[in-house]
Amino acid sequence: MKVRRYLPLSGVSIPHLILISSLIFSSIPGSLSSKAITLRSIQIYNTHEFLGPHPTIYFYCKGENKTILPDVKEKHFSYIFYGEESWQPLTELPGKKCKRCGLYEFDTIKSDDVFDEWDLCLDDFINGISIHYKAKQFNATLLCEDCQVATDSAQTSTSSDGSANKKIDLILVVVISVLVSIMATIVTVGAYKYWQKRKREKDQAHFLKLFEEGDDIEDELGLSM
Ligand SMILES: *[C@@H]1O[C@H](CO)[C@@H](O)[C@H](O)[C@H]1NC(C)=O
Ligand SMILES: *[C@@H]1O[C@H](CO)[C@@H](O)[C@H](O)[C@H]1NC(C)=O
Repeated sequence: MKVRRYLPLSGVSIPHLILISSLIFSSIPGSLSSKAITLRSIQIYNTHEFLGPHPTIYFYCKGENKTILPDVKEKHFSYIFYGEESWQPLTELPGKKCKRCGLYEFDTIKSDDVFDEWDLCLDDFINGISIHYKAKQFNATLLCEDCQVATDSAQTSTSSDGSANKKIDLILVVVISVLVSIMATIVTVGAYKYWQKRKREKDQAHFLKLFEEGDDIEDELGLSM
């Protein structure tokens, strides 16, 4: 029983290594590809421009182009988007690196007004959704569908790897059980044959002894007669 429990564990380590390394390699291209970030909904609570009739609000990440949100004009109105608008996606996140992004409003006189600036990271997206809220400024829901797909496929691949591991474990257990059974049978048969041989030899020796003893008795009888 000890052998059965010990061998599958030590035998599995190599397939496990292969599976782990393949998992790492398969996750590398995924982490290198850019993830598109789209705006799902936004509500602004404040505008900074007093001269113009409507504010012009834009999203901007350092080193990239400004993305003007053409429809967002009214305070306290919830704007919903579907990710297919001409100005979407807002930006892309390459791999694990965060980006410094923010929401701004054009200002005709002084420098543009800042709603908020923050580090946009993949970790912000839980189930592909990140809610960025700043009191008295805005509440925005950002969507990263690729992030969601990535985590989904990672989950399914880990679960399928898990079942593959289980399959390999099962196959190893079966193979080793069969080997152990064969060994046990060989040992048992060998032991039985050896025991039979020994018994035969013993019987023969006993018989010969009896025979000799019989002779002796006969001799003794003959002598005495
Ligand atoms: C920014 O806009 C210009 C012109 O509209 C375009 O040529 C360029 O590729 C854009 N850059 C980025 C990073 O999107
Ligand atoms: C921000 O918007 C999201 C989605 O519309 C909503 O679930 C959340 O409660 C809002 N947060 C606040 C503080 O208004």
